Amino acid sequence: MGAHLFFLGTRPEIIKAAPVIKELEKRGEDVEIVNVGQHYDLELNAVFFEEFDLPRPVADLGVGSGSQSYQTAETMIRAEEILGEMLPDIALGVGDTNSVLGSALAAVKMGIPFAHVEAGLRSFDFTMPEEINRRLVDHVSAVDFAPTERAAANLLDEGISPRRILLTGNTVVDAIRAMLPRARERTDRILSKVGIGKREISMVLTVHRRENLGSAERMREIVLAVRSLSEVKIVWPMHPHTKRRLETMGLLRPLREYDHLRIIKPLGYLDFLALLLGVKVVATDSGGIQEEAATLGIPCVILRDNTERPEMLEIGAGTLTGAARDRIVGAVRRVLYGRTRGRLRVDKNPFGDGRAGERIADFLANVDLKSLAPTSPRFEEGAPAYSIVPVGGRVSGLTVREVEERWGLRVISIQEGARSKIPEEGESLRRGTLIRVLGEPSRIESLRRASGVR
Ligand code: UD1
Ligand code: UDP
Repeated sequence: MGAHLFFLGTRPEIIKAAPVIKELEKRGEDVEIVNVGQHYDLELNAVFFEEFDLPRPVADLGVGSGSQSYQTAETMIRAEEILGEMLPDIALGVGDTNSVLGSALAAVKMGIPFAHVEAGLRSFDFTMPEEINRRLVDHVSAVDFAPTERAAANLLDEGISPRRILLTGNTVVDAIRAMLPRARERTDRILSKVGIGKREISMVLTVHRRENLGSAERMREIVLAVRSLSEVKIVWPMHPHTKRRLETMGLLRPLREYDHLRIIKPLGYLDFLALLLGVKVVATDSGGIQEEAATLGIPCVILRDNTERPEMLEIGAGTLTGAARDRIVGAVRRVLYGRTRGRLRVDKNPFGDGRAGERIADFLANVDLKSLAPTSPRFEEGAPAYSIVPVGGRVSGLTVREVEERWGLRVISIQEGARSKIPEEGESLRRGTLIRVLGEPSRIESLRRASGVR
């Protein structure tokens, strides 16, 4: 019986779960994998199991392609079956795909706690299936491993208890760290394979999001941007879905005629990192590639209208261009010929320090997993409520723990300026600070009185 059962469906999930699986194994923990099979082509799935030397999955659910509801529902039905057979102490998933939503829902409805790696990302764009998925998964999970401070703040702002949130960093930084030495050795080889000379100006391009593939207009603009950037050697490792859409839109044939563009199959992780290391700029609508670009110091042009990774813009590692030809071309040229000449210095990587897997595995190895299972609380007044309380009176100077114990409340977050922050148990509350609490109304009222609120 596997204590930890990881559900993995697509390329980025396998890559981002690998560091956690390795760290759990190092601690002698029992960890098994279920391959949901949302991605099934060798180059979107099996290649990563091999490269990261992951254990063979105990089951392949073979969910495959289909509509949003089909993938989610089939994952639920098939995950329920394997969960019933394996009865793990905890189920886990990474990110915001239909595989993650389906497996999380199946697990919690069976009373099996779910742990969500890469929780708390928000684009506030409900036209994205991923935004729907990540919000739902975060709210049903017993533990949310938030990769960044902003992700943790998003969870707190939605009322998720800080006891369920652990700030870890993104495991993609760990994955890069594990693969970087071997990837570096491959850079020259991969560049020569795709026909890029050492001194040539080059760029990697990837596109796979529905917001782009679903619009012939947006795809035409991206293709026109590629055409305009004729002085740049461009390599496009193409997702099979993108290839099919471009074909249908009649855009693939013209693309094949551009001498400065090489369309290739999706690459394995080592080769992809090797390629990134060899180019000056990356243009992408991928989430993981944005984080990798920032981590490796490669400037990134983001082919989206919004991003759940605003840290990219905050540190100057990325520019949002949407799919407008002029904006893409302008952003790429600014990177290449502007002051920075395609170099990027990231002093403190907001996505993590390469130790996210360790933090997650330490938590999982030390917690009583059974205690994370859903239980039914008892409320004397029927239900708790949220409230914001300004600290004052007898409350100022008390620690978070003291407030929680004395009034039987949860301190959900502490407001620091405009930001919500995870409250540390031993932290003393200063006069004038705003705290957000969850508890039964009469207890909140008593805290407000003690705080001097009329
Ligand atoms: C999915 C995720 C997306 C993630 C991406 C990672 C959702 C809602 N979306 O998008 O968040 O960024 O994976 O790459 O879960 N196909 C193949 N071979 C495969 C798999 C798919 O050819 O092995 C084709 C099929 O035509 C399929 C299409 O790609 O219909 C889309 O695949 P799907 O898994 O539905 O979504 P992605 O766009 O890959
Ligand atoms: N990737 C890869 N080969 C490729 C393109 C991407 O290994 O040809 C990796 C990339 O390094 C990143 C992940 O796939 O870690 C991103 O996956 P994708 O763009 O499919 O999904 P997203 O991150 O947007 O969910």
